[in-house]
Amino acid sequence: PAAVIVAIDGPSGTGKSSTSKAVAAQLGLSYLDTGAQYRAITWWMVNNGIDIADPAAIAAAADKPDIVSGTDPAAPTITVDGTDVAAPIRTQEVTSKVSAVSAVPEVRTRITELQRSIARGTELGIVVEGRDIGTTVLPDADLKIFLTASPEARAARRSGELKGADVNATREALIKRDAADSGRKTSPLAKAGDAVEVDTTELSLQQVIECVVTLVEEKR
Ligand code: C5P
Repeated sequence: PAAVIVAIDGPSGTGKSSTSKAVAAQLGLSYLDTGAQYRAITWWMVNNGIDIADPAAIAAAADKPDIVSGTDPAAPTITVDGTDVAAPIRTQEVTSKVSAVSAVPEVRTRITELQRSIARGTELGIVVEGRDIGTTVLPDADLKIFLTASPEARAARRSGELKGADVNATREALIKRDAADSGRKTSPLAKAGDAVEVDTTELSLQQVIECVVTLVEEKR
């Protein structure tokens, strides 16, 4: 069969990563976590003393780090200049700074090119998850999914992942990050006109996975 390109977008805590990895694994497709790439470039900026409040400084450094993503859904990897950054990109510091870095147009251009070249390079196809995949990165994707969930459900899932983190603080941080991601000028978080919206509030992860797998199979 021809390669199938699946774009999965939505705000934080809607189950994008768990769903995308499982769907890719079940269908034998590659997997790309684009949030991890924005986190990786943010980690590099922080580590190299770039002032996150200075978009010009971020823009000037946008091409410097070498970011490599491994696309096996069973074991996705991410390195910056050869260093494994899978753990340090999940710290609260990086999470709180990533929206400012990802809003800089030079950063988006750089990371978008990387994403397109990875998607083009897959033989059987790929599941790409993010915020602007269906609208900007891969507008010709065979299937576009937009996952949503109530703020309460999203905060509960995130604080479950963060083991014991305060649900209210998590909820506030999530809402703030989504507002920044939705409000930025360059390729904001948005549902593509031709995306299928799936509200996951009342669904189990297994149900969401089955729903997306069925939609992909209809396209193949
Ligand atoms: O998905 P995750 O929460 O790891 O994404 C981290 C951040 O990366 C988002 O809050 C957003 O600022 C940025 N991002 C983006 N475009 C994407 C994916 C993520 O701007 N396609």
